[in-house]
Amino acid sequence: MQTIHIDNVSKRFGSLEVLKQTDFRIEQGEFAAIVGPSGCGKSTVLRMIAGLETPSEGEVTASGKPIQEPDPSRVLIFQEHALYPWRTVEQNVSFGLELAGMSKRERKQKTDMMLEKVGLGGFQSYYPHQLSGGMRQRASIARALVMDPEVLLLDEPFGALDAITKITMQNELLRLWEGTGKTVLLITHDIDEAIYLADTIYVMSPRPGQIVETIRTAIPRPRNRNGAEFAEMRERIMQHLDLTKH
Ligand SMILES: Nc1ncnc2c1ncn2[C@@H]1O[C@H](COP(=O)(O)OP(=O)(O)OP(=O)(O)O)[C@@H](O)[C@H]1O
Ligand SMILES: [Mg+2]
Repeated sequence: MQTIHIDNVSKRFGSLEVLKQTDFRIEQGEFAAIVGPSGCGKSTVLRMIAGLETPSEGEVTASGKPIQEPDPSRVLIFQEHALYPWRTVEQNVSFGLELAGMSKRERKQKTDMMLEKVGLGGFQSYYPHQLSGGMRQRASIARALVMDPEVLLLDEPFGALDAITKITMQNELLRLWEGTGKTVLLITHDIDEAIYLADTIYVMSPRPGQIVETIRTAIPRPRNRNGAEFAEMRERIMQHLDLTKH
């Protein structure tokens, strides 16, 4: 199991300063979220934790060891869901297991079980274009979860979904996470989504991104989106994002 530490990280792409001395730590088993304006470096942070990008300064570590390359214990779900259109749902979900060299029988068993869990039982042989948007997103979540990662990195996973599917998916994600001890880092533009799901919310500044506020959301689950604590937290985040001016 892993504690992730973004240790005073700066990141530049050429002359563009994207992250500036960003520092935070996600404890093992924690559900953390990052909210921040477009272009502030959120996906870049996630890609560094996934081992797809390296810091210009500082260090990103997992349980004290620098992350230098991708590792199956940390799985990233991309901002645009990335199912292979030429593979069926089953082939997409079992792809990582196949790469890991798992036997066909075991792969099939794990894949079927995970598809059942995300409500896609019976859709094994469908191709992505034959699914609804929400089903596609569930398939890509199944593809990540079937790897049984210790760390789940989610980049705007529900951004493209309609409001109803979104709420259903948020509840499914919580159900799948609770009691697993997995560490989750969710990036979202949706403030309510962050408050509904996360234990800790990091609010980032515009580029160059920095953590401007760390909010511990100790509201007991299931959280009431219309509750007073929820509203208070929403207001606080909006203030930090400078969204309260008219
Ligand atoms: N590989 C790259 N090469 C050059 N610039 C990059 C690269 N990746 C990201 N950037 C730049 O870094 C900045 C931050 O990008 P990033 O994708 O991290 O933003 P974000 O916070 O995820 O934004 P959004 O909310 O719109 O997804 C952007 O200005 C982008 O142009
Ligand atoms: Mg992004």
